[in-house]
Formats: sequence, structure tokens, C-alpha cells
Amino acid sequence: MKILMLHGGARKNGNTATAAGWMENELTSLGHEVESVSLFDKNIKGCLACAKCKDTPDEVACIQEDDATEILDKMVAAELVVFTSPLYFWGLAGPLKTFIDRTFSLYIDYHKPTHSSLVEGQRQALLVTGGGPYENNAEPVFIAFDRLQAPHKAVKAGELFLAKCTTPENLDDATKKQVLTFAREIVK
Ligand SMILES: Cc1cc2nc3c(=O)[nH]c(=O)nc-3n(C[C@H](O)[C@H](O)[C@H](O)COP(=O)(O)O)c2cc1C
Repeated sequence: MKILMLHGGARKNGNTATAAGWMENELTSLGHEVESVSLFDKNIKGCLACAKCKDTPDEVACIQEDDATEILDKMVAAELVVFTSPLYFWGLAGPLKTFIDRTFSLYIDYHKPTHSSLVEGQRQALLVTGGGPYENNAEPVFIAFDRLQAPHKAVKAGELFLAKCTTPENLDDATKKQVLTFAREIVK
């Protein structure tokens, strides 16, 4: 399977990157083709909400000249997209949220019979790490992620929240096992 991992976090050796690295190794060892992109390192401007992209529904056609179009093209080509992020103030890290806003250019006519999407049928998964417990903490992110598949016409492959993350050194074997199981489940 062609898999694109899109990372919203800044810390290259942080909790999220460590868990995402485990996932990437597992997916690669299962024979999947995995590409990773650090959104934090890219120039991704906010969506202008100009809707010019809706005039050209057969391709990614945002009028902004930055790195988002290339990444959106990679997204269109992927069978599975894995979004990863630390939890920041009950939400996704800025680079990932900003990129997801730019996926506005991937579909037209949401809520209409003519609704179509460049990523129709694509599998999408979300991995989030947070310092606090799950309850009253990460729900907003997962509610938004659940809803994202509707405009995208995508399919949710899975979601995982790693709670109580302090430092990467403290991510224990049970957590690693949970992450590897998650990696295997999202490609089933
Ligand atoms: C700006 C900021 C906001 C945060 N907000 C939350 C939060 O709302 N809930 C939570 O559980 N942890 C929060 N944390 C903790 C991080 O989500 C957590 O430590 C995460 O695992 C860090 O990931 P990283 O090591 O990949 O950067 C926050 C951390 C920062 C820096």
C-alpha cells in the first residue's frame, strides 16, 4: 500500500516522532511503501477560503504558491494517509491544522448530490500524543477527525491517542506494542 505520513509536531525526537517512527518501521517491514513529510519544516500558508480551487475539481488547484500543493498531490496519490501530532491545547499542532485546512481544495460540492473528492475512498488514520489523560482532553481532536472523512469522502482506518506522554524515554514497551498493533490494524 502507498502510505503518506504527515507529521504536525516540531520535535524530531519527541514523543510523537518516536511513536511515528515505530509505525513507519512496522509498515515498511510489512512491505508497504511509506513516505514521511514533516509539515513543520514546510512553508504552508493558511487557507484563503477564496474557493478558487473549486473551479478545477479534477486536480489540486490552490492559487497559493507554497509547499502545500506538492503535499496535497502526494496525498491524492496515497492509499493511506497517517496524520500525526502532539496535542496542543486540545487541538492539533498548528502545521497539521493549517495543512488540513488546505485540504479544502480536494473536494467540491460538499452536502450536494454532486459532491466529489480527489481522495474518495482513501484510508486515513490519526496518531496523537498528549501529556494528560484522554478524558476531557483529546476528544475534540478525534471528533474533528471523525468528521473530516465526510468532506474528503475518505474512510477512517483508525485513531490512537497516547496519553500521559512525558518524555520519549518513558514510552514503555506496552505503549510500543500498542503502536505496532495500531500500525498493523490500519492496513488491514
Ligand atoms: C503548546 C503545548 C500545548 C499542549 N497542550 C496539551 C493539551 O492540551 N493536552 C495534553 O494532554 N497535552 C498537552 N501538551 C503536552 C504535549 O501534547 C505532549 O507532551 C506531547 O506528547 C508532546 O509531543 P512531542 O514530544 O512530539 O512534541 C502540550 C504541549 C505544548 C508544548
